[in-house]
Amino acid sequence: MSSGRTEIAVVGSVNVDLVATVARLPLPGQTVPALGFEQFSGGKGANQAVAAARLGRRVALVGLTGSDAEGAAVRAALARGGVDVTHLGVADGAPTGRAIVLVADDAENSIVVVAGSNALLGEVDVAAASEELRDAAVVLAQLEVPVDAVLAAARGAAGTFVLNPAPARELPDELLDLVDVLVLNEVEYEVVIGRPLPADLADLPAHLAQSGLRCAVVVTLGGRGAALCQDGAVVVETPPHVPVVDTTGAGDTFIGALADALSRHEGPPAALRWAVHAASLSVGALGATTGMPTSDQVGASLARSSTDDGVPR
Ligand code: RIB
Repeated sequence: MSSGRTEIAVVGSVNVDLVATVARLPLPGQTVPALGFEQFSGGKGANQAVAAARLGRRVALVGLTGSDAEGAAVRAALARGGVDVTHLGVADGAPTGRAIVLVADDAENSIVVVAGSNALLGEVDVAAASEELRDAAVVLAQLEVPVDAVLAAARGAAGTFVLNPAPARELPDELLDLVDVLVLNEVEYEVVIGRPLPADLADLPAHLAQSGLRCAVVVTLGGRGAALCQDGAVVVETPPHVPVVDTTGAGDTFIGALADALSRHEGPPAALRWAVHAASLSVGALGATTGMPTSDQVGASLARSSTDDGVPR
């Protein structure tokens, strides 16, 4: 962990990811054999923290592991990844969160999350990190921890508050009013905004204006990149062509990289481009954090895309 004041604070989940690779995702009622099985550290909060730390930021994670061996293992992995785990508490007697992840040959995945200790994160845990929340240029939160903890993070953030409403649910107006940047995928958009993403992204400003949202909104579009809607304007950024092994954690890489750029006072369109390239680099390896890039790698990807069509040779 690098010393100095926190640049990015993440309030969120920590999981152990139990990853089975399969030829195809099973249909309802179908049993399929695994081609392989591996265990990784995961959780949207932890992944986003690792992504930003790998890009060189000083990142503090506020969360809870269980008091089991898995909790100790993910804490050690996070610390090795450069994340400040001072405010990663231990919930006595609770199991660490688990995610059961299936990754198919075509890189499609499906994930079931068992909350475990993440469900116990409370306002008091967030309050204990009030200094980090005040220091941070960017505070990130997701919804794998209770909404009360997320609300406490939003209230305590002095800098830019970025919310990734995943898994999606309807959100209290008080929380939405505190969000500076909302980052969500198409499925989450429909749940949070209450209507499907418009087919023509040029309609996003009108669509969002009708929903009453005042913050900047970033919609991640998978292999199509991401769109930013701010002050009535839309910017769409498409990714370079890359080999895809596993997209688990691509969204988390995107958000960690967006936070990295915003914390360095990059404008939102430049942050969007940075995040799209970071996410595209993350999908080449199995495991949510395995392929997360360094800032040199993202810079090289950006340089390639400005000089050619981005296709690796
Ligand atoms: O976003 C990917 C993450 O979602 C996985 O690491 C898994 O733990 C779930 O939280």
